Amino acid sequence: MDVEEALRKLRAVRRFRDAPLRDEDLRAILDAGRRAGSSKNLQRWHFIVVRDRATLTELAKVGPFAGHLAGGAAAIALITPDPAGADMPLSVTWDLGRAAQNMTLAAWARGIGSVPATVYDHDLCRSILGYPPDQHCEYLLNFGYPAEERSITRPARIGGRRPLVEVVYYERWGATAPSADRS
Ligand SMILES: Cc1cc2nc3c(=O)[nH]c(=O)nc-3n(C[C@H](O)[C@H](O)[C@H](O)COP(=O)(O)O)c2cc1C
Repeated sequence: MDVEEALRKLRAVRRFRDAPLRDEDLRAILDAGRRAGSSKNLQRWHFIVVRDRATLTELAKVGPFAGHLAGGAAAIALITPDPAGADMPLSVTWDLGRAAQNMTLAAWARGIGSVPATVYDHDLCRSILGYPPDQHCEYLLNFGYPAEERSITRPARIGGRRPLVEVVYYERWGATAPSADRS
């Protein structure tokens, strides 16, 4: 799958087959994450891989929209210094987003779906994963082979994203669009 096709078709997947990720797939996903460029090349991230079903079931309780973690093949917890900490630059989250998207796309190209889970109960997440007080987990990524093959192959939903004409200005705020942006 080429990059543009992957970007066009990429969708969040929340229902997975009950099958472990192949080791080479998991490694490729992690490798894609660690290869992301980061501000000043600081690479302020660690990734905790969770495959144990009991642990995934516990992690499904870290937030109101994290229930899908219970049915995934592997979760990767994205750990950084606390982005809300004193003097912590916004680039921490920019960098992590790049690593996360790399992982998501590397997975997608291998037929693996994924979806983020946002952490609301940080004490619970920390107690499950054991990262130290100076580290923080705002998001996990959940990976697995999609339960429905269709979720990998189906075209993007019409209306699923705002059109270019709504999100792009030229030269200056408010100046829209050559007609090509209107399709
Ligand atoms: C920062 C961020 C946090 C998200 N948190 C959750 C989450 O907690 N639970 C969930 O099911 N999806 C979560 N998502 C997935 C979004 O709901 C999904 O990207 C959006 O609905 C678009 O889905 P689509 O690509 O299938 O159109 C999150 C996405 C992002 C970018």
